[in-house]
Amino acid sequence: MPTEQRRWQSEADRLANESVGRGDPTGWFEILYAAGESGEVTMAWDRSAPMPLLERWVNSRPAESAAGPESAVVVGCGLGADAEFLAARGFQTTGFDLSPTAIRTATRRYPDSSVNYAVADLFQLPPKWHRSFDLVVEIYTVQAMPPAVRAAATAAVGELVAPSGTLLAIQVEPGPDDDGSGPPWLLSREQVEAFGAGGLRQVRLDQVADDDGSRYWQAEFHRD
Ligand SMILES: C[S@@+](CC[C@H](N)C(=O)[O-])C[C@H]1O[C@@H](n2cnc3c(N)ncnc32)[C@H](O)[C@@H]1O
Repeated sequence: MPTEQRRWQSEADRLANESVGRGDPTGWFEILYAAGESGEVTMAWDRSAPMPLLERWVNSRPAESAAGPESAVVVGCGLGADAEFLAARGFQTTGFDLSPTAIRTATRRYPDSSVNYAVADLFQLPPKWHRSFDLVVEIYTVQAMPPAVRAAATAAVGELVAPSGTLLAIQVEPGPDDDGSGPPWLLSREQVEAFGAGGLRQVRLDQVADDDGSRYWQAEFHRD
């Protein structure tokens, strides 16, 4: 008799709490993706379409600049949907994630991809990536980390932005019922503004709704 596959969300709560409890804020991601790969639970954060607000933002930008293709990096790219979208739109795209299983799954899903997929830890990035991307896209990764490492995480994201580059950060806005217990540990307006530490200028910080009515912070920063 086939065993019923559990939904990944409850497993994420359990694994995150255990992991954070033993002083390992990010160890649970790989365990969760591996459980998805083995079929023990459904695959976490599984989507093939780009995040709608990213798609809307890219569509609203002017066409490719005369300077040629821009580089982009997707922080915590998971299964690759946003990285693939940016590559299809002409960005020379890197997607990195802490989880080897997530990166392996992304490369299997997109065998002909032009994306440079890499297993990398936001807290120990290759030095050559420092301030080297024209566009940095951060969607849901910082909010998936406990508050103890949040400031370090936002700072590390900002340090990927090249001179004249842009950071687009999209995070879920906490609602009145959010008790902060996480995961995810949703960011306040001030915590989103903290992406600008390290010399980035905040261009905008909007509260926006997705087509399904979910509410988000959408923030854009520029390195002058
Ligand atoms: C909430 S998921 C979001 C995934 C993807 N951005 C999306 O929107 O579907 C957070 C992702 O960040 C990755 N991650 C967590 N900590 C990380 C770290 N220190 N460095 C790189 N990636 C990390 C996780 O493995 C996971 O894929």
